[in-house]
This record gives sequence, C-alpha cells and structure tokens, in this order.
Amino acid sequence: MEAIVVEDLSKSFGGLRAVDRISFDVRRGEIFGFLGPNGAGKTTTVRMLTGIIKPDAGRATVLGYDVVDVEEPLRVKERIGVLPEVANPYPDLSAWRNVMLAASLHGVPRKEAERRAKALLKEFGIYERRKSKVKTFSKGMKQRLMLCIALVSDPEILFLDEPTSGLDVQSARMIRQKILELQKEGKTVFLTSHNMQEVDMLCDRIGIINRGRIVTSSPD
Ligand SMILES: Nc1ncnc2c1ncn2[C@@H]1O[C@H](COP(=O)(O)OP(=O)(O)OP(=O)(O)O)[C@@H](O)[C@H]1O
Ligand SMILES: [Mg+2]
Repeated sequence: MEAIVVEDLSKSFGGLRAVDRISFDVRRGEIFGFLGPNGAGKTTTVRMLTGIIKPDAGRATVLGYDVVDVEEPLRVKERIGVLPEVANPYPDLSAWRNVMLAASLHGVPRKEAERRAKALLKEFGIYERRKSKVKTFSKGMKQRLMLCIALVSDPEILFLDEPTSGLDVQSARMIRQKILELQKEGKTVFLTSHNMQEVDMLCDRIGIINRGRIVTSSPD
C-alpha cells in the first residue's frame, strides 16, 4: 500500500489558488521530497495532509485514511508525526513537559514516554536544558525540540516542513542524519524544502511544486 495518495487536491484562499489540483503518491518507507520556492503551496499541502485545514476539492489518503473525512483525521493523527513550519512548543512549559505532553496526547504509556523523551532530548542536545521553559530557547533549540515532539509517539509517517530552514550547519546536518536513520527504521518521510541539494541528498523520489501546480515528479 502507498503511504500517501493525493488526487487533484486543491485549496484556495480568497481568489488565490494556493494548491491547484495536485496529484502524487508517496510509497511506504521512502523519503519523498516536496520541493518548491516560497509561496509554492508546500505548507498548505502539509496542512491538508495532516488534517489542519480542509481541502476545497480532490482526495487524499494517508495510511489509507481519507484526510477529508470528518472522522478519520483523528485516527490518522495517532500514527503521524508533524514538524510544522513554525516551531510552536508551549512557551511556558519546560522542554521535558512539552515532550511528555505530546507523548500522552498520542497515548504513549508513561514509563515508555519517559524513556523516549530522555533518549530524544539527549540525541538532539537539549537534555541538559530539559527543565528550562521553552520561551528561553533559541530558534534552533525550539526546532530540535519540535523534532523530539514529532518523534516521541514513534510515528509511521513524518511530515517535516522545511526542517533545516534557518538552522546552523551542524544542526541541519544532525537533522538530515536523523531523517536517514528514520528511513532505515522503516519510516516514511514527507519532506518539504526549497533546497535542491538537500532534497537531492536525502530523497528517493520528489515532486516539484510551483504556484500551486506540480511541475515535475519522479515516475511511479
Ligand atoms: N491562511 C492563509 N490565508 C491566505 N493565504 C494563504 C494562507 N496560507 C497560505 N496562503 C497563500 O498560499 C500560497 C502558498 O503558501 P504556502 O505557505 O503553502 O507556501 P510554501 O510553499 O509553504 O512557501 P514557503 O517556502 O515560503 O514556506 C501563498 O501565496 C500564501 O500567501
Ligand atoms: Mg511553507
């Protein structure tokens, strides 16, 4: 089964066609790169696929669940991890509490959540700062924390919206390395980027979007 199937998906904001009848498939276990310039429609696509906004038209399934169906977005949310474009952890909670909260929302048992939270925060170099309120974190620290939050539920599919944008070279490398490791563990990754080199380095297949339209994609 395909991990993601998108058919003629569209979304307009007022008169603007942000996403215009796009179609593509993402296979299980692949890293799919969704490449395009600013304003192309990448984030809008991610938001539709992760159940945050409703498409105007078309169809999409994630792990076989219809993202337009009112019932199913909740069920699919348990099995996906999302790194949104703008890092949005709860600023008045500590890093630790943020990760544990995400785990509990996904139904991860407490002991297991603690084990995973510790391992992830260590891996991403923020364990020492786990008790600090997140509003004291730098942008790069928040971005790494958001990745811990996305991963703590051990999701089958990860949606990463420009995960390395604005990060220093070392943090970007850490995140790219992690994406490759996740694939080795059998995860599917949907990665948006405007960085051709990054996509080239990481992705098995790609779709290129411009002004809401897919202009090129890897063959099926
Ligand atoms: N909530 C919204 N209301 C109005 N217009 C929106 C909204 N969200 C996105 N748009 C518009 O839709 C188009 C696509 O935006 P989107 O954020 O999907 O692009 P993107 O490919 O993610 O760009 P970037 O690389 O800058 O993140 C843009 O023209 C944007 O202004
Ligand atoms: Mg975007």
